[in-house]
Amino acid sequence: MTAKTMEELGALCKRRGFIFQSNEIYGGLQGLYDYGPLGIELKNNLKKAWWSAMVYERDDVEGLDASILTSPQVLKQSGHESTFSDPLIDCKDCQSRWRSDEVSQNACPSCHSKNLTDPRPFNLMFKTNIGPVEDGGSFAYLRPETAQQIFINFKNVLDSTPHHLPFGIAQIGKAFRNEITPRNFIFRVREFEQMELEFFVEKGADEDWHKIWTDLRVGWWIDQGINKKNIEIINVSSDELAHYSKATIDIMYKFPHGLEELEGIANRTDFDLGSHTKEQQDLKINAQVLDNKNSNSKLAIQNKDTKEWQVPYVIEPSAGVDRGVLAILNEAFKKETLSNGKERTVLSFKPHLAPIKAAVIPLKRNNEKLVEQAITLKTSLQKLKLGRVVIENSGNIGKSYRRHDEIGTPLCITIDFDTIDDHTATIRDRDTMEQQRLNLDEIPSYFSKYIGKT
Ligand code: GAP
Repeated sequence: MTAKTMEELGALCKRRGFIFQSNEIYGGLQGLYDYGPLGIELKNNLKKAWWSAMVYERDDVEGLDASILTSPQVLKQSGHESTFSDPLIDCKDCQSRWRSDEVSQNACPSCHSKNLTDPRPFNLMFKTNIGPVEDGGSFAYLRPETAQQIFINFKNVLDSTPHHLPFGIAQIGKAFRNEITPRNFIFRVREFEQMELEFFVEKGADEDWHKIWTDLRVGWWIDQGINKKNIEIINVSSDELAHYSKATIDIMYKFPHGLEELEGIANRTDFDLGSHTKEQQDLKINAQVLDNKNSNSKLAIQNKDTKEWQVPYVIEPSAGVDRGVLAILNEAFKKETLSNGKERTVLSFKPHLAPIKAAVIPLKRNNEKLVEQAITLKTSLQKLKLGRVVIENSGNIGKSYRRHDEIGTPLCITIDFDTIDDHTATIRDRDTMEQQRLNLDEIPSYFSKYIGKT
């Protein structure tokens, strides 16, 4: 059973330190969230899993971490200055603002008034000044997608690595959009993270690679614990395609508020490199691009056999980290009725995503011998570098189990008075709640095997 409501999930996230409203003590800023002690661990683990699958487990992808502040020239050439907008409607009676797709039957969704403005385009990019003088002459955008920085670094990466087509550049980082109506917790926010791969291929091989990447990405989400039956794959209709896309496949997920996009996989053709390259006239660019008189870089690759220069096509799997975290929390969230009639809440994360991998619990709070033994075991497990291991020195074993079920800790290890005599401890499994007694010397290898499994 997945979470019933977003409110239920949001309440657990706040109570247990996953996610907080940003700027909360001053009333909060809409569409912004902060990740707390457990949220940052979960988010980092998800990003690590993506980086591993995209970069370490392949030989044809390199990583990048480029700047967030972006020159207006980049976002002019990419088409964002002219087209990255949502149609905005104002309600003249209650002053609320809506994206036009949220308004049905010409009535304000809030006060139902029909006294509405016509839709007008609202550009979603944030601007800021560069340098000390705020004269508007020198501004930058906060990037609305991480992708553009990959395209403009195409030659830098190509020249410094041994790649030929097909190859890719991966990046994880912040993106910013001044969403008209941020909503649904961390689903639609104004500051978020993307995990994007731009995979450069020969023209003609693009459609095959589009299929390959769609299958790989669906498989990856399933490996993160997303149930296949909660995923739908849709072909974005031609009238809804982004300006750069020849075809886009969306991986849709059944979020608590409905079926919505988790990741998009777009065929961006040669639009972006073609738009940012110099010497456009000498290259056979297929997409309709803006003239470029300012670029100093030839974003093309020479065919080894024909010696002809070509602008590669691009397949782009682009996933939202925050939407990923939300989907994973939703999948993991379970309420179970136990045989004794009591209810427990459990987050059954895959072990590699769990914020805390194991809790070592001395049976009696502040008992010197038990605590000392617990610290020794915690230190040896922490040294394995599989993620965070904590000491839980509350002295209340039932409460400790409940807390660690609710934050998704796969293993709890209790150090009791027998441990001092016979060098054994109890290991409890989060999902089955089964307990077994293991020798302390066996615990590190048991832990490694358990946490290493996906
Ligand atoms: N570079 C392509 C691109 O940015 P997109 O469909 O606009 O395409 C990609 O965004 C992904 O980024 C989405 O599938 C979603 O997961 C995430 N995303 C987009 N806007 C978001 C927002 N306002 N809040 C949270 N995540 C967002």
